[in-house]
Amino acid sequence: ILSRVICLVIGYVLGLFQTGFIYGKLHHIDIREYGSGNAGATNTLRTLGWKAGLVTFLGDAGKAMLSMLLAWLLFREKYPDAVHLLEMYAGLGTVLGHNFPFYMKFKGGKGIACTAGFLLAFYPPLAVLCLLVFVVTVAATRYVSLGSILVSLCFYIQLIVFGQMGRLWVNPGLLPEVYGVGAVFAILAIWRHRANIKRLLGGTENKFSISKSGNL
Ligand code: G3P
Repeated sequence: ILSRVICLVIGYVLGLFQTGFIYGKLHHIDIREYGSGNAGATNTLRTLGWKAGLVTFLGDAGKAMLSMLLAWLLFREKYPDAVHLLEMYAGLGTVLGHNFPFYMKFKGGKGIACTAGFLLAFYPPLAVLCLLVFVVTVAATRYVSLGSILVSLCFYIQLIVFGQMGRLWVNPGLLPEVYGVGAVFAILAIWRHRANIKRLLGGTENKFSISKSGNL
């Protein structure tokens, strides 16, 4: 239990580093007062242009990977057949710190860039189909939020498939916990998109475009 809590806390602390919010502040704006009001890569891209979006994505994905690396360094020798699960806790902690930063009145991002970093570090094959689903959905509909929601579902289904195939490098006895933590990732992502879901159903969701740098 203690190792899980340590990983969650490491993740939460690193998750507090809000790349998009900081980038916005360096440009004298509070990113949460623009566009969708979200402090994530999509809204930074929408509001401040592609460079801002890219930096935010890399920073937010990178902090998830960094917290997982720390979890691995701390526990790889002590719990070799559970360290992959502990990395999941570190990734989940990062999403929690990113989505609910205490010093921003718990109003952060939606955790998708963090989840992308997590997927890549956790098991790269998982990220491949997710990336494809994301790109195809956004290209076809121009709804980034729909892409993110479908990616969350795709991730969870694949997690179970790879888990059943014995590809996740954890003790099989830990698989139910892996699926449980994975479900929290997916449910959190969908929960954070509830305003987007309302807009999607009402036909009022923002179609993807970049205000500052035009037609990327
Ligand atoms: O990653 C967040 C994305 O799915 C939606 O962002 O700003 O359109 O709410 P936004």
